[in-house]
Amino acid sequence: MESALDSHASTYRVRYETSPLNVSRYAYAVGSIGYVIMLAEGEFDIYDDGDGVEVWITQMGNYMNMNTAWVNRSTGTVAIVDPFDSKRWIEALESEGLRPTHLLYTHTHRDHVEGYADMIKLIPEIKVWGHREAGMSGLLAHAVFKNVDFTNIWNNDANTTVGWSEGGIKLGITHSPGHAPGHVTIHGHGVYHAGDLLFTAHSGRVDLPGSDPMAQWSSVLYARNLLRTLPKEWRLIPGHRYDWIDGTTPDWVSIEEALKHNFSLNSSVLESLGGD
Ligand SMILES: [Fe+2]
Repeated sequence: MESALDSHASTYRVRYETSPLNVSRYAYAVGSIGYVIMLAEGEFDIYDDGDGVEVWITQMGNYMNMNTAWVNRSTGTVAIVDPFDSKRWIEALESEGLRPTHLLYTHTHRDHVEGYADMIKLIPEIKVWGHREAGMSGLLAHAVFKNVDFTNIWNNDANTTVGWSEGGIKLGITHSPGHAPGHVTIHGHGVYHAGDLLFTAHSGRVDLPGSDPMAQWSSVLYARNLLRTLPKEWRLIPGHRYDWIDGTTPDWVSIEEALKHNFSLNSSVLESLGGD
């Protein structure tokens, strides 16, 4: 790990260069203002917006991957998005008498499927969902991808949303290619999990094998229209915890904040694609 310090207004910045994908990551402590609260590695934020489905959110790994799970205790259903450290997930759920039942993959970049092998070993009967185009064997020629054997696939066209419903958990699955083939975003019960389509302040990189910059912009435009229909206080959970517009590094921002400040959601490129 290489680190360097530099000053940023009233913030004290520690810069980490840890990613093999050459993406810079930052951690901040805000000097005189107070500390920005961020989830520790493997720490869970759990909340229930009153409909009986809990949302569990955590941050794991050197790439600060954000993981989301929807949990319905009454039906024993636990659907986890892109679990990074499956042992940690299983341990935390077991302490509450719960067990993962479904994996929902946003895409098959190796940092997002890091926990797949352990999960399958520990819970062989788990259902594994992903988009058909994320499961193409040709992708495995590139080191950024890793194999996942989906037991169930979504097959919807780009920029369409289909419903997913299991054990009282109801989600919308949006096919959002561009960052990676078959990338999806997943929303419901108070959160929009953006995967690597959107981070808090910007959008995902499009210079990787299988990336498609124009498809990404179309996906961002579709996402903007979708986000405008969702409750503004819902959380936008990014695939990774990167810096926000004010130099802090929050785990998430509200949909209202993202629509107002995310650079990609406010790009003039969207107007050229017919956005209003
Ligand atoms: Fe990715």
